[in-house]
Amino acid sequence: MSQQQDILRDAMRRLNLTRDAFSERLGVRRRALDTWLLPADSGESRAMPEMVGKFVAEILQREAHATASGADSRPLAQRIAAEGRPHLLSVAQFERDGLEDLFQVADVMQPIARRQKVTRVLEGAVLGSLFFEASTRTRVSFGAAFCRLGGTVCDTTGFTFSSMAKGESIYDTSRVMSGYVDALVVRHPEQGSVAEFARATNIPVINAGDGPGEHPSQAILDLYTIQREFSRMGKLVDGTHVAMVGDLKYGRTVHSLIRLLSLYRGLKFTLIAPPSLEMPAYLLDLVSRNGHVIEQTQSLEEGLRGADVVYATRIQKERFVGEEIEGYTPEFQVRKALVDTVCKPDTILMHPLPRDGRPGANDLSIDLNHDPRLAIFRQTDNGIPVRMALFAVLMGVEHQVARSMRDAGWRSPAHIGPDDADFDGLD
Ligand code: NCD
Repeated sequence: MSQQQDILRDAMRRLNLTRDAFSERLGVRRRALDTWLLPADSGESRAMPEMVGKFVAEILQREAHATASGADSRPLAQRIAAEGRPHLLSVAQFERDGLEDLFQVADVMQPIARRQKVTRVLEGAVLGSLFFEASTRTRVSFGAAFCRLGGTVCDTTGFTFSSMAKGESIYDTSRVMSGYVDALVVRHPEQGSVAEFARATNIPVINAGDGPGEHPSQAILDLYTIQREFSRMGKLVDGTHVAMVGDLKYGRTVHSLIRLLSLYRGLKFTLIAPPSLEMPAYLLDLVSRNGHVIEQTQSLEEGLRGADVVYATRIQKERFVGEEIEGYTPEFQVRKALVDTVCKPDTILMHPLPRDGRPGANDLSIDLNHDPRLAIFRQTDNGIPVRMALFAVLMGVEHQVARSMRDAGWRSPAHIGPDDADFDGLD
């Protein structure tokens, strides 16, 4: 880890300090800290004085010393292992420390994700990408993340074009693939199926969504996004108010996200779902046992009021078997007029995407597209560094990345989206 922004971000996360509190602790002005945190290529970025760097290292060393007795010094892949093996099947594999370590690796990946640097740490490695359900961003971002680490990808999509259509078992498919590739990313419509893939192989397996079960990498990138947005606003995840809207019964992204967020302290969740699509009871129990407040409502206006994060989801129609949803009326649409009335100027609006843009879909409205609170594309962009970090950790190359980086040989646009300039410098 060499970049000053990475060092400062990591220190704030580990010390659980806002930018204001951290600048006070360092005895510097908040504005100075902001300029040290800007990407190196931003016009306003400034070099952090050497003395400050030394002081930060000292504070962290003291902190590590104070917590050393309980700390686990094994590599992250071992600390998050599933039944002793380097898989990612559920967010339950993570403690808060492990998440912070993973975010530190994701920060190191940022210049590669932004196409300023390249690395070849996974040169020669092949990823097997098996998607038995519809996907655009998860499949492509896992593939792109593996390629940006220097590896290559082989994939199959849908049942029709795989031997599963001929009755092949998960065990056979997984064992066969293990002879061809070095890691597997699997999406499958049945809950628990990706764990079955994992039991049939010794190569790393990542759960990219198992039916209505979990979607751990999505929740990790969602939390990483919340942290980065909050860091800019001087907020902490502890004590925050998160509103989750939509299909909380079948939406696997919210199942994983609420579990991850419950590792933090003193959160308030408002869960807004139509009567038949509420969050499963086992998750409500788990979250309230961790000391968080949960309120359930069918009123969008009530649930969104004062939220720091609004996380909207799509109704998972493909998972309904003979069920009719009632009460999913236009009042459920998260739209600009409502956000302007009940949300705050610094509320962030998130969605795992895809959002259903068809008329009558009642999803996150496109009339928010130019609102800077809309964080959905910053969220999708963060999928790359987070998924790169997951591969690097599970394949044991995370410490090689920083020293392997070279400048990219091609030029890419400074802003990859036409509206991105609005957020320039906010990083
Ligand atoms: C979600 C999924 O597949 O669970 N999308 C994603 O991976 N980003 C959400 C959805 O399909 O609604």
